[in-house]
Formats: sequence, structure tokens, C-alpha cells
Amino acid sequence: MLQVDPRSGGFPSASGAPSGRLPVAAPSLPSADRISPYLQRIDASGWYSNFGPLVQELESRLAARFEAPTEVVTVTNGTLGLTLALLALELPAGAVCAVPSWTFVATAHAVLMAGLTPWFVDVGPDHGELTPDLLAEALPRAPGPVVAALPVSVMGRPVDARAWATFGDRTGVRVILDAAAGFDGVDRAPVPVMVSLHATKVLGIGEGAFLATEDPGLARRWRALTNFAFMGDRTARFPATNAKLSEYAAAVGLAALDVWPETRDRYFAVARRLRIALSDEPRVGFQAGWGLDWISSTCLVSLPQGSADAVEAVLLGHGVETRRWWGAGCHAAPAFAGCPADRLETTLRLARSGLGVPFSAHLQPDQINRVARALKLAVARAGVERTSA
Ligand SMILES: Cc1ncc(COP(=O)(O)O)c(C=O)c1O
Repeated sequence: MLQVDPRSGGFPSASGAPSGRLPVAAPSLPSADRISPYLQRIDASGWYSNFGPLVQELESRLAARFEAPTEVVTVTNGTLGLTLALLALELPAGAVCAVPSWTFVATAHAVLMAGLTPWFVDVGPDHGELTPDLLAEALPRAPGPVVAALPVSVMGRPVDARAWATFGDRTGVRVILDAAAGFDGVDRAPVPVMVSLHATKVLGIGEGAFLATEDPGLARRWRALTNFAFMGDRTARFPATNAKLSEYAAAVGLAALDVWPETRDRYFAVARRLRIALSDEPRVGFQAGWGLDWISSTCLVSLPQGSADAVEAVLLGHGVETRRWWGAGCHAAPAFAGCPADRLETTLRLARSGLGVPFSAHLQPDQINRVARALKLAVARAGVERTSA
């Protein structure tokens, strides 16, 4: 049974149920039993932060997941991770950084907090992703020299990081990949990659994230940026901050990695069931490969063009919660009102024809069927309204 706890910032937890309403998501974090052995190690060592043994172990286990030799640096959250990754590039103040508008606001916040100007660009119609080809095509319309780009993994969909490395080599644009929800599909870091470990992600620890790179020099700079710009002594070498992960957060991360194979299997099983339950409704689409080749903690469905409002209203009427995870596109947020934007037709279209629907590793077969039934009814009704309008 699931409920939204106001203390979780509106994000639902896996305990208790408010009157049959199906929440749009529910975190899967490791149990206290699984975390406990790591907490006992902290008690025994008396080491609580400052790159202690648990943070070191977490980073090396995360790094071992990559195909090529890769350095991993943990940070307190993904937004700060992106900000520091941009600061590490030492780009001119106010310079233009291309970002897809089809992303969570954190991406653009990071660009502004790093002293750069976000330039919102459009994404591809099939996958909602900014690709190297799309950015290359948009570059001549940029409001100034584009020094950096922050492509985004769409709700965890794997991104071709090597194609971005090639683009960076060819254009001189510095690329950082925002793979906040991409834990399951990230296996290379030829360009810097950020993965969030927020409670809403498949591998969640509460708050946290990691940066990955194949460049050891860059990793050293990131680490210094998370630790007062200390590099082996107590000299602050450049402006920096404190963004270190504590040993307690690392304990949760290590326990989460221990149970990851089972967690992943549960996510896949629920996703497959949902796909099957909707297989006779071609008007509801899933992200390519979601629940088949890769998994994330959210389910984004694509709907008939422009029908998201109507479908959402029917679903809510049936107690099925929805979420516009990325709103109307990032450019529409007041925080970024003054920022330049390219044509954003696809972004606007995606915002009107996609919805987050209930999904979690805890979803039971009857709840999955309920989501599917409500979706089928909703698209049928939206279709009738559209044809009679
Ligand atoms: C695309 C994207 N980028 C960045 C972030 C920020 O990550 P965090 O919540 O760890 O700061 C998120 C969080 O959901 C996200 O979805």
C-alpha cells in the first residue's frame, strides 16, 4: 500500500494507503536490515565523512560497472554534481551552454549556478532526446559561441556517450551528460556523466549522486571541488565548496548495490506486466526498450497528439495519479524566463502528449491492471472528445 508523505516533498512512500489512490511512484531503498552491517562498520571505524572507507568502497563498486577504466566521484546531489562538473571546465563567465528544454529544471539550474547562460534547444520526436546531430543543426542559430552542452538521458533512456565524445572532439563544445535517471543504462563515460542517487531513482540513497569520467585528471579536480579545493593538503587552491557524501549515505548506497539485482528484476517484472496489460492499446506507447533492455523508476507513456490533459483528467477521476515530470519544458519555468531558446516545437508537443503514470517495483498485479484499464478508458474517451469536437 502506498502513500504520499508530506515530509518527502510530495514523493510517495511505500507504507500506508490513502483511500485507494494509486501514487505515480514509490521509492525502493534498501531496508534497515540491509544497511545495518554498514552502519556497524561506521561505529567500529569512527570515520563519518571525508572520503572514508565506505565512500571509497561505494565509488570503486560504481566504477567497476563501467566497461572502460573509469573514475567515480560521489557528490551530495546531482544538481550540485552538474554545477561542479561545469565549473571544473573553467569556461568564460556568461558563455552559452546548450541544454534541451525537455528536461528537469535541475539541468538548467546547474548551468545558471555555474555562471553560464542556458540556451534551450529542441529534441528528437521519437525519443525526446537532444542528439549530436540535432545540436549540430541548431548551432548556427545559437545566440553566441556555444562552449558547452548538457544532453540529458530521457527518464533513464541510455544515451550514446561515445557519439557525444565524437561531437565534442569535432566541435570543441565541452559535453557533460546528465544521466540523472540513467543508472541502469550508463556503462561508458568518454564524456563526463552525472547519475543521481536521489530516492526517486532506481538506485536511490535519499540524496546523492556520482560523476564518472575516463579522465583521471578531471576526477581529481572534481574531488577537490567537492572538498574546499584541497588537493592532498589543506591549501584552498581555487573557489570550491563542500559536496562530500557522508559515510552514512555511502552505507545506504552499498546496501542498495547489494540488493540491486533483485531490485532491478522487480522493476523489470512490473514494467513487463504493464506493457503486456497495454499491448492491445496501440494509442499508448512506452519509451523504446523501457522494461525490455533498460529500466528506470518512472513510466512515461506517449499518448495521441495533444491528449495528455484529457487523459490525465480521466485517470485522476479513477484515482490514478499522473505526473508531468518535466512540466511544459524547462524554458517555461519562471526561473529561466530571460534565457535564450531555439525553436521548441517537439518539446511543446511532447509536453502535451506524454504523461508519467503509476510505476514502482512495489506495484501489484491488480494495481497494474487498474492503471492499464484506466489508461485504455482514458484514451478512448479522449478520442471520442477529439472526434466530436
Ligand atoms: C534530468 C535530471 N537532471 C538532474 C537532476 C537532479 O538530480 P538531484 O535530484 O540528485 O539533484 C534530476 C533529478 O531528478 C533530473 O531528473
